[in-house]
Amino acid sequence: MPTKLTSHYRRTGHLVNERGFLHLANRLLGECGVSDYTLSVLLVDDEEISQINNQYRNKNQPTNVLSFPFADGADASLATLPIKELGDIIISVDTALREAILYRQPFHDRMTWLLIHGLLHLLGYDHERSPGEEEKMLAREQELLSKTNNFRRTTMTRLAINVDHVATIRQARGISEPDPVTAAAICELAGASGIVVHLREDRRHIQDRDVILLRQTIQTKLNLEMGANKDIIAIALDLKPDLITLVPEKREELTTEGGLDIISQTKKIAKVIEKMAKASIPVSLFLDPDPKQLAVAKEIGATFVELHTGRYCDALNESMCEHEYELLAAAAEEGDRLGLRMCAGHGLNYHNTGPIASLDTIEELSIGHAIIARSVFTGLDKAVRDMLAIIRQANMLF
Ligand code: PXP
Repeated sequence: MPTKLTSHYRRTGHLVNERGFLHLANRLLGECGVSDYTLSVLLVDDEEISQINNQYRNKNQPTNVLSFPFADGADASLATLPIKELGDIIISVDTALREAILYRQPFHDRMTWLLIHGLLHLLGYDHERSPGEEEKMLAREQELLSKTNNFRRTTMTRLAINVDHVATIRQARGISEPDPVTAAAICELAGASGIVVHLREDRRHIQDRDVILLRQTIQTKLNLEMGANKDIIAIALDLKPDLITLVPEKREELTTEGGLDIISQTKKIAKVIEKMAKASIPVSLFLDPDPKQLAVAKEIGATFVELHTGRYCDALNESMCEHEYELLAAAAEEGDRLGLRMCAGHGLNYHNTGPIASLDTIEELSIGHAIIARSVFTGLDKAVRDMLAIIRQANMLF
């Protein structure tokens, strides 16, 4: 990863979406043609930037951004460096906040500008050198700023809620409550963009009656999750959900355990997609973040791919989590490049959803367990709104 982002800023909890900011920095490196160089970005408060400003520039006062190029000195140039290292950018989040208010700018626009300004200094631009240099730096800043507008998502990541667990509780007693149809309505009223149910062969939770009623009552989108099984395919063709998601299904599993392997069953899955296409039902394939699977998905005409986030969510330590996240981010980019519409889900909860929602190539998240589990204590309406707040926050910055 070319950029290393460190934050010492603790004053306002989630003010900076760190993964989003990191993503922005990496895309800027690409725009500037230096993505093979490493860059360090440090976020600090006014007190810390004053200390650094004092130590290196004899100015005991806060400033917005400091740049320390690795290639230092009058005749410094990146080409002469022994290693591919740009240097350090230090940003005071306190000053960025104050300036955002002063200039009536959204906070993330201010942070973006400071990052670009710092980066251009590392690349040899200097507005203090001469009026001509100032003009040149300003022009490049504007150019990069307008490029970052294209990086940004223009719509919020949608939240589709899986209500299977409500049916699981009902089935535990074999009576009529709680009803997943009522749950779906509450989720929609709280802001969900879609409802997902998995009609399993063994009907352990969702029943045929549920999908029929959901089809009649849902105001958003019904996503029918299913195995590529003959009887279920017939039900889907008859029901006409807004979307089907094909998943691997084993009777003995507690929940879906991994992505669908479409390389070993390309013909079978292609046939299902063809059948659904004839009934105008788009198909999503639930896949592991593997570029080979994505290429086949594109080849056989899938509209959507839902990336399996399970391994990211279950990672036992920070570095495994980071690794799985990188795989997901790269797969989301690759799928998007291929023209697939990218979604993600499985195992997402109130702690790990933000970084996935900040990937601007992911348009929808499918979440069940965490929301239904929380609803036991907070009520379903609040559980949905809490998750939406996390997604909104992750989308807002960068
Ligand atoms: N996506 C798919 C394909 C699934 O099978 C499931 C689980 O039913 C989910 C998303 C939701 O996973 P979770 O319940 O862990 O949020």
